[in-house]
Amino acid sequence: MKITGITKITGVFGYPVKHSLSPVFHNAAFRYLNLDYVYIPIEVAPENIGNAVKGIKAMNFAGVNITVPYKTTVMPYLDEIDADAKMLCAVNTLVNKEGKIKGYNTDGHGFIRSIKERGITLKDKTIFLLGAGGAACAVADALVKENVGKICICNRTDQKAITLKEHLLKTRNFQGGCVVPFAQKNNEEYWGNVDILINTTSIGMQEYDLPLVEERFIKPLKLVYDIVYNRETDIIKFAQKAGVPFIDGLSMLVYQGAVAFEFWTGITAPVEEMKKAVGLDR
Ligand code: ATR
Repeated sequence: MKITGITKITGVFGYPVKHSLSPVFHNAAFRYLNLDYVYIPIEVAPENIGNAVKGIKAMNFAGVNITVPYKTTVMPYLDEIDADAKMLCAVNTLVNKEGKIKGYNTDGHGFIRSIKERGITLKDKTIFLLGAGGAACAVADALVKENVGKICICNRTDQKAITLKEHLLKTRNFQGGCVVPFAQKNNEEYWGNVDILINTTSIGMQEYDLPLVEERFIKPLKLVYDIVYNRETDIIKFAQKAGVPFIDGLSMLVYQGAVAFEFWTGITAPVEEMKKAVGLDR
């Protein structure tokens, strides 16, 4: 990779960013397609996030990803925000178009793309969704747009599950939301018709985490999706053992990146190469 004065700059703003995998697969994609772009992780302290956005214009970056903890707090500094991102109150990608910075959220789109690529359809499916935070909201919104039939939301703080269900009703007129009380998540009555289990909580990131869902509910499923990406979680192991298709958080990370890559370059992302770069060859 030869960097010159005309190399287009992209990257990620976060705090911290030292463990980010995004530079690995974005730079691999640029190299593979021989594009004169580079992707740099940039640690931005909280008091500097506004100035960092101004810097995108000043230094003519093509765009950046936005990660924790700035997905919401960066929004007031943008010139424009895509309607979906506005609704989710979170952006993860900024695009510099002729000196105007527009914010997008590629999490939902990337999530859906990773499922469709596995040949799994979502229409009318029943989803069991663990979690009701920012990631759950992006995932649920994307699922509703794909016309899933039912989303059963289960969260440690039950009230947040109720709020997410109401949000889907209000913003998308989605009537298929239901809440599974956290204490009852392993009751059979909630599992009868479930097609897809999605974990959006942080449970599974630590080796000592106990799985939220019992193994006996996994076998009949059509897909298990766990957005944890730093290790193989128990629910992914259960799926593997039961021969149920599964997708982990590394795939979601690569696919949301692929959508951002396409915003910046206007070129179809080489997803297989990006996956290979992070050791995902399946
Ligand atoms: P993100 O934007 O990644 O979704 P978040 O908004 O902080 O991050 O949400 C984290 C999710 O993990 C929440 O659903 C949280 O449950 P609460 O709403 O009750 O906080 C869930 N979570 C975190 N730690 C958990 C734990 N020990 N057991 C169960 N759920 C947990």
